Amino acid sequence: MSSETRPRILMCRPDYFEVSYTINPWMDPNAWQAESGQLAAQSRSQWEGLYRNITGLGVTVDLHTPRPGVPDMVFTANAAVVLDRKALLARFLDPERQAEEVFHQDVLENLVAEGVMDEVSTLPQGMFQEGAGDCLWDGSRDLFWAGYGQRSRREAYAYVASFFDRKVVTLELVDSRYYHVDTCLAVLNSGHIVYYPPAFSGDSIERLRTEVGGDQWLIAAGEEDASRLGVNLVNIGTKVVMAVCSPMLERNLNNAGFEVIRSPLPAFGMSGGAAACLTLRLH
Ligand code: ARG
Repeated sequence: MSSETRPRILMCRPDYFEVSYTINPWMDPNAWQAESGQLAAQSRSQWEGLYRNITGLGVTVDLHTPRPGVPDMVFTANAAVVLDRKALLARFLDPERQAEEVFHQDVLENLVAEGVMDEVSTLPQGMFQEGAGDCLWDGSRDLFWAGYGQRSRREAYAYVASFFDRKVVTLELVDSRYYHVDTCLAVLNSGHIVYYPPAFSGDSIERLRTEVGGDQWLIAAGEEDASRLGVNLVNIGTKVVMAVCSPMLERNLNNAGFEVIRSPLPAFGMSGGAAACLTLRLH
């Protein structure tokens, strides 16, 4: 792999990761508190496992500086939407995560200073959009799949479309457990889409089916995978790195030409996140 084609991902070590507030149904601060020392240690080793798996696939990983008081900063997928060396910073719905915004701006501006990216921009006032975790790039179709109805607002996507000059297909998320589109949909570089149908409105399922150009491109995940955040995966080349994978989903991924690498992340599951959430692909 030449350095030009080497994928680049932003991650953040979980030095201050914990579950200390509730902004989605996965988060229970009391459950975390009951075993906080152990869970903090587990989160560090699980994160290191993911880091090793990802760097082992030839990815260059840039590291964000961990900060106290913003435990969800580890979920770098939410920092910004990134494409064509441009970043559009997230604006979070919840004040607990709004506190991260200046740090995400910092790290992305540093990447501009290093020549890795060209531009960092912000959304107009009043628009909420939670970064790549809610806006997935599909390079095969030259479009974004974007979630709304939980954290991000549908109105923000007209701006995203004009900022990147790309089509954005919006999908309504109807289950609060699947509050970002990356918890219930993943794009594979073959053009396949892994998704968990019950997380989407009926209209949005129709829109998805119309856009993908044939059901052979859709891989439906079941409750068993979705409810353990297996759909929240990272695809590098022909490998798929995921926290969990049922035998049936693994068979479907194998048939689509992919090999599964399991990277367990249960401590992050307590915050509602897994592999994709912990990575920001610098497309
Ligand atoms: N606790 C975090 C939140 O609720 C988890 C974010 C996971 N990130 C993601 N891209 N789904 O915001």
